[in-house]
Amino acid sequence: SVEQTLILVKPDGVARGLSGEILRRIEAKGYSVTGLRMFTPDRELLAAHYAEHEGKPFYEPLIEFMSSGPVVAIRAEGHRVIEGFRSLAGTTDPTGAAPGTIRGDLGRDWGLKVQQNLVHGSDSTESAERELSLWFA
Ligand code: CMP
Repeated sequence: SVEQTLILVKPDGVARGLSGEILRRIEAKGYSVTGLRMFTPDRELLAAHYAEHEGKPFYEPLIEFMSSGPVVAIRAEGHRVIEGFRSLAGTTDPTGAAPGTIRGDLGRDWGLKVQQNLVHGSDSTESAERELSLWFA
C-alpha cells in the first residue's frame, strides 16, 4: 500500500554537499518527494525523535551531532517506501554498508563517538507516522 516515510539528510550529509545526490537517488528510485524542509533542529525535537535511544552511550553525542547544523527533512511517498528507502540507505554502519547504497557509496567511519551515516529513514509505519508529525508538524 502507499506509505509515507521520514527521511533526514543529517548534518554530515548537508555539510558535505550531498543533499542533492541523496534527493536524486530517492527520486531516481521512483519515490515522490511530497515535503521538504531545511533547518537546524533543536534539542527538544531531537529528544522526541530519538526517545527510544535515551540512555544509550551514543545518545548525547547523537543529539549534539544532529543539532550541529542544518538537516534536510524529506517526506517521501510510494508503495513500500519505508522498506525501500532503508534498502537504498544501507546498514547503519557505513563501513560495511553495501556498495550501491547511500551509506556504502558515500559514507565512512570518521572515528567519532556517534556513527555519522548521512541519512535517517523511519523503520516502520508507526515510527513514520510519529516522526512525520514531529518534523512536518
Ligand atoms: P539513526 O538510524 O538515525 O538512529 C540512531 C542513530 O544513532 C543512528 O542512525 C546512528 O547515527 C547512531 N548509532 C546507532 N548505533 C550506534 C552505535 N553503536 N554507535 C554509535 N552511533 C550509533
